[in-house]
Amino acid sequence: MAGSHQITINGNSFLARRGELLLDAALSNGIDLPHDCRAGHCGTCCVRLVSGEVWGGEGSEPGIVHACQCRIVGDAVIERGQPSGVRTVEGVLSSLRPLSPEVMEVGIRTDRALPYRAGQYAQVRFSGYPSRPFSITHPLRGNPNSGSVWFHVRRMKDGRVTSSLGKRITPGHRVKLTGPYGSAHFRPNLGGRLILVATNTGFAPIWSIAVAALRENPERRMMIIAGGRTIESLYMGPALVRLGRFPNVLVVPVCSTPQTLTTAVKPGRPTDYLPRLLPTDVLYACGAPGMVDSIKSIAALIGAVCYSDPFLPTTDDTVEESVLTRAMGWLAVPTSRQMGQLALDRPPQPAGTADAGV
Ligand SMILES: Cc1cc2nc3c(=O)[nH]c(=O)nc-3n(C[C@H](O)[C@H](O)[C@H](O)COP(=O)(O)OP(=O)(O)OC[C@H]3O[C@@H](n4cnc5c(N)ncnc54)[C@H](O)[C@@H]3O)c2cc1C
Ligand code: FES
Repeated sequence: MAGSHQITINGNSFLARRGELLLDAALSNGIDLPHDCRAGHCGTCCVRLVSGEVWGGEGSEPGIVHACQCRIVGDAVIERGQPSGVRTVEGVLSSLRPLSPEVMEVGIRTDRALPYRAGQYAQVRFSGYPSRPFSITHPLRGNPNSGSVWFHVRRMKDGRVTSSLGKRITPGHRVKLTGPYGSAHFRPNLGGRLILVATNTGFAPIWSIAVAALRENPERRMMIIAGGRTIESLYMGPALVRLGRFPNVLVVPVCSTPQTLTTAVKPGRPTDYLPRLLPTDVLYACGAPGMVDSIKSIAALIGAVCYSDPFLPTTDDTVEESVLTRAMGWLAVPTSRQMGQLALDRPPQPAGTADAGV
């Protein structure tokens, strides 16, 4: 067929249209490729390009591409790797505690464990509401237990889901959690300095990553920059105090609206307080998409690894791609990958995050 190419995924071959997204081509040919955000952020759809070529969608490691972002431009052989371990668990809202005027700590007691890696997120579906992605975190008081999952949720004005928290969604409400998703998770055994940057509830995954990192090595060199628009939005104060007690942890709370309450909170934006970066640094940036993009660009300039989770609003409608996006796609050069360059990410580790004393 003119304008079509042979795609092989884990040994199953089909013909796909030139220019089609790999994910769409796979799904419409009956191949169930796991995916979530469809925006190139969560990493759920990452596959390995064994041979051939696709355009765009490069992942954070050589040879890995985001199936939701890359387009078919020739024959290609793809491997899916291990199943991602995504599962759905049922639960009930067990705890709802205001942390600031706009943020709630949400505890959900589940009927079975939801294993995850620090920094990952779940799709949360309160009964009667559409699902929303929220990052799994630790309770700010006490220790986690394997029967509950915790979130920091910012209530959005007019939000279909979050504005109902504490109103129509109250303790006892039934909920389904599906996950874990996301590739901005803690990687153990990295020797470099960790630089963790969050705005507002972006602190949820950052807190989880910080705890995992200190559990692995309480002497770890780490900097945590936590930002918010107002001083009230810095709901994570008690957690920052606990983190700041570790010998090699530097904590920088930042607030963009001028305030006179305390000099401990610095004026400005998180990017104003980044240290001079080294190529060996490992950065995590979570929260406002603009901040996350800036941190990624700064890290890229120096060649440091940066894992990120921009907290984008959910679009409930099917994402339609614009004519412009399609046109832009055809102006670029295809990416070729050869066997041998390639390595998929590690398999998920068991959940469970023994407290590091934080
Ligand atoms: C991977 C991932 C992880 C996330 N983790 C968390 C988390 O741990 N805690 C948390 O509070 N949020 C998190 N978010 C953001 C959260 O999923 C969205 O804010 C969600 O859309 C809120 O649902 P809602 O139904 O209340 O609002 P919606 O009905 O979806 O939106 C209501 C209005 O608010 C705007 N809006 C919604 N969310 C945002 C936003 N984040 N920034 C700017 N404007 C917005 C919408 O454009 C719309 O105008 C995460 C997002 C992603 C992609
Ligand atoms: S579905 Fe492709 S990165 Fe999320």
